[in-house]
Amino acid sequence: MHILITGGTGFIGQALVPRLLQAGHRISILSRSQHRDTSRCTYLRSLEELPADSGPDAVINLAGASLAGKRWTRAYKEELVASRVQGTRALVDHFADSAQRPRILLSASAIGYYGARGDEPLTEDAAPGSGFASQLCQDWEAEAARAAELGIRTCLLRLGVVLDSQGGALKEMALPFRFGVASWPGTGYQYLSWIHREDVVAAMGFLLEKDDLAGVFNLTAPAPVTQREFCQALQTHFRTLPGMPVPSPVMRLLLGEMAGELLLTGQRVLPEALQRAGFRFRHPAIEDALAAIFDAQAGDRLP
Ligand SMILES: NC(=O)c1ccc[n+]([C@@H]2O[C@H](COP(=O)([O-])OP(=O)(O)OC[C@H]3O[C@@H](n4cnc5c(N)ncnc54)[C@H](OP(=O)(O)O)[C@@H]3O)[C@@H](O)[C@H]2O)c1
Repeated sequence: MHILITGGTGFIGQALVPRLLQAGHRISILSRSQHRDTSRCTYLRSLEELPADSGPDAVINLAGASLAGKRWTRAYKEELVASRVQGTRALVDHFADSAQRPRILLSASAIGYYGARGDEPLTEDAAPGSGFASQLCQDWEAEAARAAELGIRTCLLRLGVVLDSQGGALKEMALPFRFGVASWPGTGYQYLSWIHREDVVAAMGFLLEKDDLAGVFNLTAPAPVTQREFCQALQTHFRTLPGMPVPSPVMRLLLGEMAGELLLTGQRVLPEALQRAGFRFRHPAIEDALAAIFDAQAGDRLP
């Protein structure tokens, strides 16, 4: 297949692209910066550069300014919205007007869709929540869902916190542990719905291949954990002092609104649709996922 990936240079794309190339696909990546093409991977600065006569069979929409990257100032919120909502609208508009439409769209969203939900188990049919991140996900999904009206098989991927070495949230989360300090944000009883990056890549491959699958899919491991449990799991890989909380007011002072929506509250999300479709997680439990990540990292350091 010819697969177009927006934001394919990012944390997920860096693992996804090699896997898709290995599977024999041809890749085009829409990126804001310049990169060197290879024989089966081409970089585009604009959708207009797609050849009219050999458009993509599938599109994977990953582009978006990092939600946890900066304080949510008014200007940064505008960038978060523009990079997702306007970006996805432009993508779907482009294919609405093109003679050759892709057959499949996999479009990223996030579990922030569900808002702050305590320990309520959340499957794909749970109602949306409230707050900036939830509204952003709802608007982002609404733009992607327009592709279904064009006859494109559309899968909306509500991603949990993607874990792996060399990037993503784990790099930041593990930092205090590397200095011997084990901590969790706020009470620590809020849920963290996570997924190993290998399972994200595998789930995307699964959804590309299964022609009968469309709609919303939670991309989260089947066993979400509380922030305290996550702290305990990380502690098995680092020598640290006993765990302690970073109080909520300190988190809010340091990170602003983002702390309240991403760290001090959480969602207990379950991947019901993927599991019903027969997808098998390689890393269903947090202890095993972290062991795989840190073992691979140790292997990378060997001479
Ligand atoms: N990683 C996670 O834990 C997680 C969790 C939930 C949802 N998601 C969603 O899944 C998608 C992929 O995640 P990721 O971790 O791979 O993302 P990422 O590495 O933060 O970014 C993906 C790509 O988005 C493009 N991008 C960044 N800022 C942009 C902007 N202002 N305007 C347009 N494009 C911009 C960049 O590509 P270029 O620089 O090449 O243009 C970047 O490589 C994102 O939309 C993210 O929100 C990720």
